[in-house]
Amino acid sequence: MFAVRRNFLRGPLRVTQCGPSLGSGYKVLDLVRCKSTYIPSPDSVYKKPKSKEQIAREKHEADLKSDNWIIRYGAIARSEKFSKALTKYILAAYVVFILYGLNYTKKLYKKDKELEDISAKIDMGVANEYELLRYKELKNTLRTRDVEKLKQYQKIIEKDGTENLDKITLENNDQNKINEKILPARDTTDFYEMKAEEYDEGVSFEEMMIRMGKRRKWLMKHCKGDVLEVACGTGRNIKYLDPTKINSITFLDASEKMMEITNKKFREALPNFKKCAFVVGKAEDLIDLNSKETPVKYDTIVEAFGLCSHHDPVKSLKNFAELLKPGGRIILLEHGRGSYDTINKILDDRAEKRLKTWGCRWNLDIGEILDDSGLDVVEERRTHFGTTWCIVAKRKGDGKKKEEIGFFEKYLGASVKSRIESFTNDGKKQDSLQATHNKPTSETSK
Ligand SMILES: C[S@@+](CC[C@H](N)C(=O)[O-])C[C@H]1O[C@@H](n2cnc3c(N)ncnc32)[C@H](O)[C@@H]1O
Repeated sequence: MFAVRRNFLRGPLRVTQCGPSLGSGYKVLDLVRCKSTYIPSPDSVYKKPKSKEQIAREKHEADLKSDNWIIRYGAIARSEKFSKALTKYILAAYVVFILYGLNYTKKLYKKDKELEDISAKIDMGVANEYELLRYKELKNTLRTRDVEKLKQYQKIIEKDGTENLDKITLENNDQNKINEKILPARDTTDFYEMKAEEYDEGVSFEEMMIRMGKRRKWLMKHCKGDVLEVACGTGRNIKYLDPTKINSITFLDASEKMMEITNKKFREALPNFKKCAFVVGKAEDLIDLNSKETPVKYDTIVEAFGLCSHHDPVKSLKNFAELLKPGGRIILLEHGRGSYDTINKILDDRAEKRLKTWGCRWNLDIGEILDDSGLDVVEERRTHFGTTWCIVAKRKGDGKKKEEIGFFEKYLGASVKSRIESFTNDGKKQDSLQATHNKPTSETSK
């Protein structure tokens, strides 16, 4: 018996046969299209159709030589050799992972140990300036001036091979003082009196382009309880205020004309909200403006783009801290120096023009101002190449709230001890860290 598949042939068919066996041993060897009598050639080669496996093998071999690396690596991954080696690769990756984990834990332990040692010294009031800077470095809170100083200390350590730096205090490199492109602070009240009418129209486009509304929303979502908004300007944040979360709100601005616009906007937006006050005055005079007998304190103090136009931004922040209720927060949305030299150069080169146009010093090192004010920064986020600073700060001595402890800090970043510490009072350390920059230079390294 034999079967003939003829769907791919046209014309009459002949079946050739060969081999000794006939009958049930008959095999179809070749099918040829023939017009007349078919005479098989003695040289005719029998071409066996390729099996599926063979086709797949040939394709795989071609893939292994492919110019396309995705196809090539795909073929390698499918190869038998690779499959056999896979167990070895997985084991190797596992070993690498374990080694990396051990190394990471070792580093973390070393860091924690150093932090603990310096913390103890800070508590005893015997930490030297280098150790205070190391503490900031380990906590990731170094400012530009600290980085410069730390580099100098490291050079001394390398040169002298000593870590005993107790008698050395280096010159400060405060960017806000030594950078001539950061212009001196000035009273901007008259400037904003003149600018008030055109302010909103002037800044709207720029703010829209850099999506500043989103940051203002972030700022105002923190408002709760009794709120003070400093340097409120024309009340650009009012539309992001949730009146159901606040008990009262006080607006403060040095310019009367700016304040009039805020007042109008607030009355229009929230006509039924009665617990509001509009104060014309300076942030630097906040303590004097407050009642001596029954000073008003706040749960939230917010400020947007105000520090750059204050006469004394450090004093303003110190006043905020004094007016804060325990557990209260200071929320700042500011602009200042960025995270990249090229950006800072642009800010520096245009600082004078900016001051003339908008009355602000947009190239200030906000980090330095924060550190000098002695506030404890709970959250610091920077956008727009680091030039927009979103800050949540608290009075030193106040503990962090649970929701303010990030995932990394909670689970990976530090030892249990330092985690507990972050919940509790670390005012002493803040005092010492602040003193790093207020110390008179007793001895300058040669
Ligand atoms: C750049 S505007 C910012 C206004 C507003 N916060 C905003 O985000 O649009 C600066 C504001 O700070 C006010 N200002 C400047 N120095 C101040 C001071 N020492 N105390 C209070 N307000 C001040 C100005 O009058 C002006 O309204």
